[in-house]
Amino acid sequence: MEKDKKIKIAVIGCGTIANNAHIPAYMKNANAEIVWFCDIIAERAAAAAKAYGAGKVCTDYRDILRANDVDAVSVCTPNNAHSQIAIDFLLAGKDVLCEKPAARTLDEALLMQKAKNDSGRILNIGVCNRFNGSVVKIKELIDDGVLGDVYHVYISFRSHRAIPGLGGAFTTKAIAGGGALIDWGVHFIDLVMYCTGDPKPKTVSGMTFSRLGRDIEGYVYEDMWAGPPVPGGTYDVDDSVTALVRTEGPTVTIHGAWAQNIGVNEMYIDFIGDKAGIRLQYGGGFTLYGTKDGRLISKTPEIDIGNHYDNEINSFIACILSGEQNTATIDNAIISSRIMQAIYDSSEQGRELAI
Ligand SMILES: NC(=O)c1ccc[n+]([C@@H]2O[C@H](COP(=O)([O-])OP(=O)(O)OC[C@H]3O[C@@H](n4cnc5c(N)ncnc54)[C@H](O)[C@@H]3O)[C@@H](O)[C@H]2O)c1
Repeated sequence: MEKDKKIKIAVIGCGTIANNAHIPAYMKNANAEIVWFCDIIAERAAAAAKAYGAGKVCTDYRDILRANDVDAVSVCTPNNAHSQIAIDFLLAGKDVLCEKPAARTLDEALLMQKAKNDSGRILNIGVCNRFNGSVVKIKELIDDGVLGDVYHVYISFRSHRAIPGLGGAFTTKAIAGGGALIDWGVHFIDLVMYCTGDPKPKTVSGMTFSRLGRDIEGYVYEDMWAGPPVPGGTYDVDDSVTALVRTEGPTVTIHGAWAQNIGVNEMYIDFIGDKAGIRLQYGGGFTLYGTKDGRLISKTPEIDIGNHYDNEINSFIACILSGEQNTATIDNAIISSRIMQAIYDSSEQGRELAI
């Protein structure tokens, strides 16, 4: 690896995640330099370039597909644009980091995987929890056998009333592909797959519900990130989901909600093994429950969680420089795409599906 080599980056989509995570992370990486900012809203591309202090701007990503001064791309657009943009850049010979979820549907994600294979380039997905200190430690404990056989994992991502931007892009299936499951659930499912060794899913039975946001004007809420509500907008995605997923590893049960008529937020994952169990508070630390010398014990270790976005981007750059793959490629992320698609299909068909 050339120590001083700078990977030249284009950022496509200059909204929240680009400004809060990708751009700051590239700025901190001595081997990265952003050379292009693209957004269909010209002012956003210009504002990002101004804040960065350099870089060319454009409103159509196709203008930079063949640019000789671009090595790699961060795709930070809404979900409906992920697949086409990632594929076009891969086939143009660029390495790609595409935000989560990989795409709106499994079929779109499979096309991305094919383009990665055909082009031989890197296609990483923004499954940032794979770079979180607590999550990495839990994987180590599971790999070392500390939990014994992890036979069940329970995922809870439930909020009281937190549908994002009701009526806007997040609640419009044609743009987002889905709701609470695809937007929040993808992080939780991918995290569990990572910690348990990316086990192959076998069967899925799921139900999704689209209830509490139906009355856009009348919806009462405590939190509206990506807001405000869009009166007369679209609301055709899930705000709540439950599912049972059998895998070649643990059985996974899922209960998630952007909104539910229960006044608590419960964001955690239980890894249940026959020797010990772990409750991970999502985005925070974890407690390990076990036994020692005939007594019950619990431990809450001090962990440096770190900045998982910085770690994700540093790993992407390191992959480009070394030619090695990390564990956040489309081949890993496709597992959560497969599970989420099966949950939506199972719900629609009203039956369990084999994957
Ligand atoms: N990893 C995480 O924790 C995390 C957190 C938030 C969002 N995300 C993901 O990041 C993506 C973007 O989310 P966001 O919250 O930043 O949205 P956003 O709406 O704030 O930003 C998206 C930007 O993309 C631009 N855009 C849309 N279509 C485009 C196109 N074809 N070409 C160029 N620009 C285009 C929009 O104008 C907008 O400025 C989503 O896929 C979301 O799921 C991930």
